[in-house]
Amino acid sequence: MIKLIRTRDYDDMSRKAANIIAAQIVLNPASVLGLATGSSPVGTYKNLVAMYEAGDLDFSQISSYNLDEYRGISRSNDQSYYYFMNENLFDHVNINKDATHVPNGENLDAENECTTYEAAVRAIGGVDLQLLGMGRNAHIGFNEPCDEFPKATHCVDLTESTIEANKRFFASADDVPRQAYSMGIGTIMCAKKILVVVSGEDKAEALKNSVYGPVTPQVPGSILQFHPDVTIVADEAALSLCPAE
Ligand code: F6R
Repeated sequence: MIKLIRTRDYDDMSRKAANIIAAQIVLNPASVLGLATGSSPVGTYKNLVAMYEAGDLDFSQISSYNLDEYRGISRSNDQSYYYFMNENLFDHVNINKDATHVPNGENLDAENECTTYEAAVRAIGGVDLQLLGMGRNAHIGFNEPCDEFPKATHCVDLTESTIEANKRFFASADDVPRQAYSMGIGTIMCAKKILVVVSGEDKAEALKNSVYGPVTPQVPGSILQFHPDVTIVADEAALSLCPAE
C-alpha cells in the first residue's frame, strides 16, 4: 500500500517527512529507525535537529541502522556515510552513538560484514521506520536495476557511471571506492513502515515507474508496491509525470 503525499518543493517535502519521523519518535520513543544518506534526506535531518533543539524530540532511546556504506572507506573520510550521518544528524541530537549502526566499510571481509549486518537487522525483526531516497534509475539503497531483487545485505560493485558521478567528491578517480555494502531489497522490505523522500524532475520517471509501473527488479523502487505500509513524500517536480489525483 503506497500513500503518496504531494508537496510544493524540497523544503515542504523535508518538513513533512520530518513530521512523520517525529510522530514515530513521539509514539514510540524507543523506535529503531532505518536511515539513508544522499541529498534527499538532508533537509529532513535539518528539521529533526531543529525539533530536537526546540525541545520537541528526544532521541535518547532511539537506535538506527543505515542502508549502506562504501567498502574500503575509513570512517574518518568525509565521504563515508558514517561521517555523513554524524555530520547531518547524530552529532546534533541526543542519540546514543553506540545505538547507531552503519555497515562497517573498514571491514574488508565482505561476507563477514554483510552477514553480521543482516543478522543484526533481522534480529530486531526489521526496523520500525525505514527512510529511503530514490535514485534516478529507481535504485533504493545500492540496489541497482538488475535481473533479480537482492534479498539480503550484500557487497555491490559500483557501476562506472556511479564512480564517474562520485569522483568529484574524492581527491582523484582512483580514490573512489569500487564497492559498497548495502541492505538488500529483502532487508528493506522487513521494515514495518517505509518513508521515501523524492525531490526534483530528474526523479520523475523513477517515481512514476515505481508507483504505477509493473513490479520488476529492473525498477527496484517498484517493490514498494508490495509493502503494506509505504508513505512517499514527493515534491511537484518529482510528481510531474504522475497522474494528478
Ligand atoms: C543513500 C542511498 C541511495 C540514495 C539515492 C538518492 O543511503 O542508499 O539509494 O538514496 O542514490 O540519492 P540522492 O538523495 O542524493 O538523490
